[in-house]
Amino acid sequence: MKNIILIGFMGSGKTVISRELSKRLKIKILDTDILIEKKAGIKIKNIFKKFGEEYFRDLEEKIVKDVSGKKNFIISTGGGIIKRQDNIKYLKKNGIVVYLKNTFETSRKRLKGKKDRPLFNEKNLKAARKLFFQRLKLYKNAADIIVKTDNKSIKEVADEIIKKIKGKGKLMY
Ligand code: S3P
Repeated sequence: MKNIILIGFMGSGKTVISRELSKRLKIKILDTDILIEKKAGIKIKNIFKKFGEEYFRDLEEKIVKDVSGKKNFIISTGGGIIKRQDNIKYLKKNGIVVYLKNTFETSRKRLKGKKDRPLFNEKNLKAARKLFFQRLKLYKNAADIIVKTDNKSIKEVADEIIKKIKGKGKLMY
C-alpha cells in the first residue's frame, strides 16, 4: 500500500487525523516532527531558538528523505514541509498527499493556548495569518486529495479521506 501523507497548516489536525486513520486502516504512523525531535535530542521550539529555522528545515528534509523510502505508513508532516519542493517530490514517490484544509480562524482556535509552535504566536497573529495565506497555494499544488476540515469531526474527516483515496484507486498498487 502507498503511504498516506498528511499535509496542512499548523492546527489542521494532522496528528489527530493520523491517529484515527491508523486505527481504522491498521497502518502505523511516522510523524516527521517527532522524528526530528528524536534526531536532534531537543524539542522543536528549542531547535528554532538555538539553531534557527534553516537548520530545522535541513533536519526536516533529511527525515523526509528517510521516510519517503518506506511503504505502508501514514506520514504526518510539519506545516512547513511544503516550503521545500524536494520534500514533496520525495514524499510523492511512494505516497498520496492529502491536504487537510481549514480556515485561519479554525487553526487559531485549535492552537489557542499552545506554546510549542515557534511560527505561530498568539501575540503576533498578523505574522501567522500572513504565513497561512502565503502557504495556501503551496499546499494546494502539492495535494493529490483535498479535504476540508472546518466544523467536521475527526471521524467525518477520516471517512472522507478513506473514501477519496479509495475513489482514486490509489490505495493499492
Ligand atoms: C511548522 C509546523 C510545526 C513544526 C514546526 C514548523 C511550520 O508542525 O514542524 O513548528 O513551519 O508550519 P505542525 O504543523 O504539526 O504544528
